Order: sequence, then structure tokens, then C-alpha cells
Amino acid sequence: MFGGRCLVALETAGSGREGWSSRSAFVLAAIGSAVGLGNLWRFPAEAGANGGGAFVLFYIFCVVLIGLPLLLSETLIGRHGQSSAPESARRLARESGASRHWSILASLGVLSAFLIVSFYCVVGGWVLHYVWIFTSDLFQTGLSGGAFQGRDPAQIEALWPNLAGNGGLTVALDALFLGITLFFVARGVSSGIEVMAVWLMPAFFVLLIAITVYGAFGGAFHESMAFLFSFEPHKLTGSVMLAALGQAFFSLSLGVAGMITYGGYVGRKVNLATTSVIIAAADTFVALVAGLCIFPIVFAAGLGVNAGPALMFQTLPHAFQSMPFGSLVGIFFFLMVGVAALTSSVALLEVPTSWLMEKTGLRRVPASCTIALGAMILGALSALSTNELAEFYPLNFIPLFEGQGVFDVLDGLTSKLFMPIAAIMTSVFVGWVSDRRLVNAETGLSPTLQGIWRFLVCWLCPLTLFGILAVGIFPNLFI
Ligand code: PFF
Repeated sequence: MFGGRCLVALETAGSGREGWSSRSAFVLAAIGSAVGLGNLWRFPAEAGANGGGAFVLFYIFCVVLIGLPLLLSETLIGRHGQSSAPESARRLARESGASRHWSILASLGVLSAFLIVSFYCVVGGWVLHYVWIFTSDLFQTGLSGGAFQGRDPAQIEALWPNLAGNGGLTVALDALFLGITLFFVARGVSSGIEVMAVWLMPAFFVLLIAITVYGAFGGAFHESMAFLFSFEPHKLTGSVMLAALGQAFFSLSLGVAGMITYGGYVGRKVNLATTSVIIAAADTFVALVAGLCIFPIVFAAGLGVNAGPALMFQTLPHAFQSMPFGSLVGIFFFLMVGVAALTSSVALLEVPTSWLMEKTGLRRVPASCTIALGAMILGALSALSTNELAEFYPLNFIPLFEGQGVFDVLDGLTSKLFMPIAAIMTSVFVGWVSDRRLVNAETGLSPTLQGIWRFLVCWLCPLTLFGILAVGIFPNLFI
């Protein structure tokens, strides 16, 4: 059905199910899933808003001690089960003599992935629009000068609220981005998702390095290094620590069954511990380089870095105004962000698609189209109710949604509630409930590392994740 590549894939997976054609294909696709808007949009925004160095160093600590053990836990559930995420968890539970209801951890992840992809594609659509804005600016103002010549800063910063406030356009852009995502998911694991990752991830890295090196010549590189890496202990407050933990978690695609699903396509011979280290290291590298890409440009323009979500859509376009070849850099920058967002949205769409295929026996194309249709309807609601449209929120009459757009409600519900719950359940399931021999056989760790990993999964992960959950539910707990 999928040609020659798939034959290799089937043999690799060894389960009669579609799978990655090689270890490097899995690694690239998993890095593609992890590297996304979380690295390029959210990480610099959070680092900027939370004081720089203290946040960054604690973030690295969280990736190593919490993210990495959980990443290995998720991929091993998937690889053991060789099925959709809930079925993989059910299988491990059954073989461990535990309740099959442990599969709820993955079902919750499937639900979160569906909700996240709906609003993730809205942001993906904004990114496409910025590629277009900078392209048309290049034709208007020429190649060599800064972007948006002759426009005052207020006009540049108005681009984002104007876009978010244009309901028809945001919905159309959302549909376009979701359509591109669907194209790759509908083609299948080895012929669609893998091909996309193998071509786009190297292109992404080239763009990231090129823009970072170019930005570094702007002169504010040392300032940015100092901002990102100088550790000032007094800045490490409870809320900064929790922001770093939540960010590490989102960035590694944990708690949404994404890595369980991708793990389900991995062959038996792949060493999951090594691949987890590569994936986490690449994701962290990209987040740090994204900081070193964005901050020098912003500092060189004399702008503030603590604008939060507006950093990418308002501050940065403003900064491109004073940068030589600003429009061209803007095009490449937003293309790079679009590529990263696409490889992540594909992973997010694949999670519910693989579940639906298994649950209903539907083939891949109708299953992925059904999920995408649902995501489109929900995404349109998100697109029409971002913060910029507060007065027009269609769901203001429902108490949970009052004063908040659908976008923010879905974001909060998934990142502060569903994802931490799913991750706590995953660590308890793998660390305490599952049969040790089955788990140990999947990890590929030496006995000493096995002991360390088990300690982290059994104790550190659930306890710290409880912290995120508590703060998600009671935001004033640590203030
Ligand atoms: N890790 C992605 C990012 O940093 O943007 C977001 C994400 C992708 C979360 C895929 C979950 C997932 F399954």
C-alpha cells in the first residue's frame, strides 16, 4: 500500500503494523514533535518574562531529571504495545496483571492532543500570515534595508491584534495550516510523517543556525548570553520554577501520549534510552539557540524582552525594522517557525488519528480527515475568541468560559490539568504498577542507570508534577 519503504518499516516494527523505516527516521520525527512553537515562541517568552538565567538553568535541570525519565517511560509504553497509545498502555497493564483502566492515562493524552492541535494550528496560521507579511514587505521596501520602512512602531505592533481580530482571515489560515498537517498524516507514518521530518528537520536546523549567526553579528550577543546564562539565585522563585517545569514538559511533548504513539512505531532493536537522550538534548539545544537567536536581535534594537507571548509577534517584527535585510530575515525566521510548528502539529494529529483507526477499523485517510474536521470546528472557535476579541466571546454565557476565549480555556485545561494528570499517572504506572522485568527489558539501561531512572520515575517525577498540578488548580498557592 505504501510502496517499498513500508516493507522495510513493517519488518522493522515486526508486528505487521506500519512503522518507522529506520532508527534515525524515528529520532528525527520525535525531535520534530518536540521542537515546535514551545521552543521558538514559548521558551524565549517565558525566559524573558521570568528573569532569564534562573529560569533557563532550572529548565535544564527539569529536562534532565524529570523530562528525560518521563520521555523514556512514554516511549517504552508505546514500543512495548506496538499499538495506539491507549491500547499500548492497556497491553502493558494486562501483561503486568494490573487494571486495564490504566489506559486512561493515554486516553487523556489522546483527548489533550486533539484539543491542543485545534489551537496549535491557529498559531501556525498566524505564522503563515507573518511569512506573507514579510514577503510582501520585501517587495515594497526592497532587500537591503530594515523591514517595514516608513511605518511607525505602533503600526508594526498592531499587526498581531489586527490579525487576531480578523475572524475570517484567522479561520482561513487555521484551515490552511491544518490542511497541510492533514496531508502528511493522511499519507501515513513512513510515507508522510517520516518523509516530512527527514526533509524538514535538517532545513529547520540550517535556518536556525544561519539566523542565529547573522543575529550575533548585530552586536548584542554577549548581552544575550549574560541574560540567558547568568544565574542570580534570588530570581529563582517558586513561580519561576513551576514555569520552567511546565515549559520543559510541554517542550518534550509529554503528557499528551505523543511519545507513546511515536514509540508504538519503533522497532524492537532500537535502544530507547539512547534515543530519548538524543531527543531531549536536541530539543533543549533548539530552545537555547532560539533564545540566542531572538534576544540579540531584540537587544540590538533596544527593545524589552519581557513581552511574553507578544515577543515573537510584536517585539521581534519591530526589531527587524532596524536590522539590515530585515524583511528577508523575517521571511526566513517565520518560515523556520512554521516548519517547527508543522512537525509538531503532525505529531499532535497523529495521536488521535491512530486511536480512531484502531478503535473503529477506519482506514488512515478517513480517520485523519474525521479528526481534522473536529479540530477545525474547535479551532475556528479558538480563532474567533482570542484575548484580542474579549467582548465578542461567543461562549461568555458559560461560567467556565466567562471572560476567557476558547483558545485560553483549552490551553489552560490541557497544560495545567490534563497533561500533568496524565504524566503523574504515567510515572506511577511505569514506576510502581508495571511488571519490572517487562519495563527493564524495554529501557536498554545498565543496572546502575536503571536504578537511578527508577528512582526518578517513582519519586521525583510524580512529586514535582503534583506541584504543577496544584499550582494549575490553585494559581495563588505559591505567590
Ligand atoms: N513539543 C511541542 C512544542 O514544543 O511546541 C508541542 C507538542 C507537540 C506537544 C506534540 C505535544 C505533542 F504531542
